[in-house]
Amino acid sequence: MSERPIRYGMVGGGRDAFIGAVHRMAARLDDAMHLLAGALSSTPEKAKASGEDLGLDPARCYGSWQDMLKAESALPADERIECVVIVTPNHVHHAPAKAALEAGFHVVCDKPLTCTPEDAQDLVDTARATGKVFGVTYNYTGYPMIRHAAHMVRSGAIGSVRKVFVEYLQGWLATPLEESGQKQADWRTDPTRAGAGGAMGDIGSHAENLVSTVTGLKIESFCSDVSTFVPGRSIDDDTSVLLRFAGGARGVLSASQVCVGHRNGLTLRVYGETGAVHWNQERPDQLMVHTLDGPDTVLHRADADLADAATAVTRLPGGHPEAFIEAFANIYRGVAAAIGAGEDDPARFGYPGVADGARGVRFINQVIAAGGDGWTTFEDA
Ligand SMILES: NC(=O)c1ccc[n+]([C@@H]2O[C@H](COP(=O)([O-])OP(=O)(O)OC[C@H]3O[C@@H](n4cnc5c(N)ncnc54)[C@H](O)[C@@H]3O)[C@@H](O)[C@H]2O)c1
Repeated sequence: MSERPIRYGMVGGGRDAFIGAVHRMAARLDDAMHLLAGALSSTPEKAKASGEDLGLDPARCYGSWQDMLKAESALPADERIECVVIVTPNHVHHAPAKAALEAGFHVVCDKPLTCTPEDAQDLVDTARATGKVFGVTYNYTGYPMIRHAAHMVRSGAIGSVRKVFVEYLQGWLATPLEESGQKQADWRTDPTRAGAGGAMGDIGSHAENLVSTVTGLKIESFCSDVSTFVPGRSIDDDTSVLLRFAGGARGVLSASQVCVGHRNGLTLRVYGETGAVHWNQERPDQLMVHTLDGPDTVLHRADADLADAATAVTRLPGGHPEAFIEAFANIYRGVAAAIGAGEDDPARFGYPGVADGARGVRFINQVIAAGGDGWTTFEDA
């Protein structure tokens, strides 16, 4: 942890927004970061009113992120915000992130990092040139049992990895919800605001990151099947990808938002030569471990012999569930510690970095561009 809370300002996350409030809870949970300023909405009036709803100093409730960066830069160094948190729709990530870095602020940005690989690489280059800390909120990597799974897989506890299945299934876009004007559906189904990927960008990006975080495997090639089931929708709502990893492992990634009955069905299964680990986001305190001859084991967060990386991000004793907010807060702990140390080192401090975000954007865009070529007709008898 940083020795003192880091001062931050938020872009997006105003009235009626979804994830901004989660970021605020997560940043505050361990007093890792304190919100002092905001440009919280796309219209100046709503942006200012949203800041006042949160009890921010009215002088620091800005009408635009440009105004926030300018005014905060002019404040004394020990008063101004140190970090900018970006929780806007995807097409409003690159510009404020780049401007924030160039104005000397650290950045936390939600996923997918940007809409295009070029913009993503630009942020990698800008972060490197400015030396600022850059965290990307692939929040599922903050779960203690994911950190333990990563420790097991990477230390060889299940042998060399052969097969990975990662599924991220939701059902909330099974109908043309966007036609009702529902805010979150509206921009997520518009490629000019979401980027190339619909389901692939929104949740497939988490799936790619989870596999990468837990296994460390590098994707060498892939074969994608990109579909849109809901008539009139101009972006994928169901995408599957076959993966080939360096070293020979194989993978299957599915991201769908038309799977009726699934709320936030993120599961990861990793099979090695001698064992396997299974994790399910809706029961995040547990990790199933299988071995060749059994017995099967269910590990629980706060068990005595978990990896240090898992224990370090556990707050409560076993049986007192920790979940989404706590995992999110673990990313904030890492970012705050990096800012405190003045060093952008995601591996050391435990947060997904700008390079992870850029790889995610390359993956989304290449999967969508490939679009499902290469099918062979089945010749039945
Ligand atoms: N990590 C996760 O689990 C997770 C979950 C949900 C969303 N997200 C990501 O978070 C981002 C926001 O998603 P959401 O569902 O909260 O969207 P949302 O539509 O609910 O909220 C977006 C907010 O951004 C504001 N905004 C838009 N343009 C702006 C501008 N120019 N200046 C200031 N504010 C502006 C809107 O007014 C709104 O307050 C997206 O990138 C999304 O992919 C991540």
